Amino acid sequence: MTRVILYTGKGGVGKTSIAAATALAASRRGLRTVVLSTDSAHSLGDSFDLELTPEPTLIAERLWAQECDVYFNMEKYWGTVQRWMESLLAWEGFNRALADEMVVLPGMDELASLLWILEHQRSGQYDLVVVDCAPTAETFRLLSFPEAGRWWLEKIFPVSRRVSGLARPLLKRLTSMPLPDDSVFEATRDLMARIEEIQAVLADPTTTSVRLVTNPERMVIKETQRAYTLLGLYGYLADLVVCNRVLPAEAFEGSYFAARAADQERYLAQIDDLFSPVPLKFARQFDRELVGFDALAALAESLFGDEDPTQFYYDRPPFQVRSVTPGDASDADSAVPEATQYELKLTIPFVEREGLELVTVGEELVLEAGRHRRNMLLPRVLQSRPVLGARMRGGTLHVWFGGRDR
Ligand SMILES: Nc1ncnc2c1ncn2[C@@H]1O[C@H](COP(=O)(O)OP(=O)(O)O)[C@@H](O)[C@H]1O
Ligand SMILES: [Mg+2]
Repeated sequence: MTRVILYTGKGGVGKTSIAAATALAASRRGLRTVVLSTDSAHSLGDSFDLELTPEPTLIAERLWAQECDVYFNMEKYWGTVQRWMESLLAWEGFNRALADEMVVLPGMDELASLLWILEHQRSGQYDLVVVDCAPTAETFRLLSFPEAGRWWLEKIFPVSRRVSGLARPLLKRLTSMPLPDDSVFEATRDLMARIEEIQAVLADPTTTSVRLVTNPERMVIKETQRAYTLLGLYGYLADLVVCNRVLPAEAFEGSYFAARAADQERYLAQIDDLFSPVPLKFARQFDRELVGFDALAALAESLFGDEDPTQFYYDRPPFQVRSVTPGDASDADSAVPEATQYELKLTIPFVEREGLELVTVGEELVLEAGRHRRNMLLPRVLQSRPVLGARMRGGTLHVWFGGRDR
């Protein structure tokens, strides 16, 4: 089965370099690997110091690389639908509000790039697909696309269904509205089906893991924390946090960077706390730009040593959120407080309920047990809700949240 690894993180943290390095290391270990970038700010080609194209190019033994081209993909997967949409938007009687909503449909271009993952995953040509993703926010907007897709199904499909077959000639006489023909209907349906398939592949923890790339810097850590929370919320498996650009000890000795030693120490400790139990790996800051195979191999070596870089470093979603409806059969558990609206389940291998302190501070949930402390940025849906109770059951902490005060 084809393994899929996605790297995401804030711009400039080193996603592209690390994706390229991982792919190179894996191909050298014998895996047929394709690495692709869904970020429109391409630099995969710069990393390898090669010209890449929108289709996979063989750049080394068992290694293919590709920079997804927005227009190439749009036409390939979206052309038919788009042409109809354009005619619809140009139609004078078209409802403005509906048009606006269609225009803000999230990242069609990046979405088209993600379709490549599915294609490679299915093709049987590769053992590994490594994805260099757009910065965090866009990626999640994208991963939530099936929700946006459902909007399409509800708003557009009933229209096309109602006007299909016999009704169409009649309707054509009554309105000048450009009606979608069967090819539009089919293209839309196919695209929606594919989007659901992508989501299934991405959310399959036996195939796919998402790796968060961060740096020992305050603003970057904040963003990583947000990404981590969103990943859990969407149910994707984060198997590794990669902390890139760690300054080695010699960088501090009587040098310009000496003052940063303490900061770095502090941020590294913080990162360890924030993302536990997801494992953390470090890559050092090199004294030059990482361009070309040798530089990327050195980066991979710094990060993975001789480990298999495609292994699952962690195999459980770190947390889950679900809504609780009163009287739900699965909640026939007297421990769940009556007014519970949401349940948060957290994997906390290091802790017992006894002696566990749990408080919410602003947007964060803070857990303290002895010398362990874990801060978790709460998903929006849980913020400013009262904690009604909590219980530890075999390595999993259940936290029950009530309704917001009005
Ligand atoms: N560990 C590192 N040491 C030295 N330079 C690095 C390191 N990681 C990344 N770089 C350099 O930083 C720049 C940005 O890295 P890149 O991988 O393109 O980040 P991103 O894809 O997250 O925007 C590139 O010029 C790259 O060569
Ligand atoms: Mg990049």
